[in-house]
Amino acid sequence: MKLAIIGTGYVGLVTGTCFAEVGHQVVCVDSDAAKVKTLQAGGIPIYEPGLEELVKKNVAAGRLQFTNSTAEGVQKSDVVFIAVPTPPQPDGSVDLSYIERVARDIAGAMTGYKIVVDKSTVPVKTGEKVTETIKRYCAAKVEFDVVSNPEFLREGFAVGDLMKPDRVVIGVGSQRPVAAMREIYTPFNAPIIVTDINSAELIKHAANSFLALKISYINAIANICEAAGANVQEVAQGIGLDERIGRRFLNAGIGFGGSCFPKDLSAFIKISEQVGYDFKLLKEVQRINSDQMERFLKKITDTLWVLKDKKIGVLGLAFKQNTDDVRSSPAIDLCQRMLKEGAALRVHDPKGMDKARALLPDVTYVEDMNAVAEGCDALVVATEWDEFKKLDLVRAKKSLTHPIMFDGRNLFDPAEMEKLGWIYKSVGR
Ligand code: UGA
Repeated sequence: MKLAIIGTGYVGLVTGTCFAEVGHQVVCVDSDAAKVKTLQAGGIPIYEPGLEELVKKNVAAGRLQFTNSTAEGVQKSDVVFIAVPTPPQPDGSVDLSYIERVARDIAGAMTGYKIVVDKSTVPVKTGEKVTETIKRYCAAKVEFDVVSNPEFLREGFAVGDLMKPDRVVIGVGSQRPVAAMREIYTPFNAPIIVTDINSAELIKHAANSFLALKISYINAIANICEAAGANVQEVAQGIGLDERIGRRFLNAGIGFGGSCFPKDLSAFIKISEQVGYDFKLLKEVQRINSDQMERFLKKITDTLWVLKDKKIGVLGLAFKQNTDDVRSSPAIDLCQRMLKEGAALRVHDPKGMDKARALLPDVTYVEDMNAVAEGCDALVVATEWDEFKKLDLVRAKKSLTHPIMFDGRNLFDPAEMEKLGWIYKSVGR
């Protein structure tokens, strides 16, 4: 199939690349000229495991192109995917101006039947607005269908999630685009669900909110575990083996962050409000999440008492492992809070340090994770990078003035840490 992807952010770039990988002819469009130049020269503007090789391979095979021109993308393709940002506004609602702009650009470039697919996360009923906008701005008699096809990839695992999706959701207003959409996704061998457009749009917000709810639920259980002397990981295992619940997304910690869950929760609460439902359950999910950070900070101040003039080593800045993304990262929030209390920080993240510099200009960046603890009063783990589990605990213990670790991601075994002589505080254990 001939496909255009408008927007080369995380979703657009990975989607376009994976479509090319399964044999489709793909044009990726971005309004940022510098970004397009980088991509044309073989550079990748984000860190995403496996992506760079796949981009290079498909560019070399002639299946993947990059351009600045929406018109070129639309004219070269039968199906046009919209994958532009839908950022939050101060009141929690979604800024749909990029979607509207792109809908107008697509409309202006259409000369024959096109399928216009929305992949960005949008409020329910956005498909209706996109349809109205295209109708208004396209030349008379050009036919088109609007489809909602939400994306469920996780940053850091995006290529795997896209190549092997749990499901593909296709929301349509008529049967006409269904065959083409099925053809696009047939190579991925995933269950395909065809729904109406409003349901497809809701599936995305309902899925992300449910996952966020699972995390807040286990964080609340973690707090009970701490008070009652139980172990949240054992509880998570015990409940997660029930297939109806599932073990994934039951890892307690300092809370969820990133560019999706916090924004999508606020948006879904707002959308619910607009249709006349007060989604109090999701407000509580948000509250538990922000409280989780406060509780962890309190754990640090309860032990170290005064943070002013203390030196603290921090492992982790990205909002989760396998990514360089520091947007709405709980780790960055935590650092900012400790800085505010007067602490000096030595920080390390395997991929997130470059992007963190703008948010945390006044900390010491350390290239080697094993050198972070040098001269510090305590060590904090803020992101669940697997490689932190390989930290040289003997060296770290010697480097610290006191062997104190606050593990916000439960990476180490409390009994083992105690045996090694650490004062070790984690979450819910
Ligand atoms: C999330 C969803 O998982 C994807 O399915 C969805 O497509 C994506 O949002 C999106 O809407 O674009 P992502 O934000 O990349 O993906 O990251 P997750 O792996 O979901 O992690 C989000 C946050 O939750 C991270 O801060 C992570 O540390 C935290 N988390 C995750 C926990 O605290 N505990 C867990 O058990 C799992």
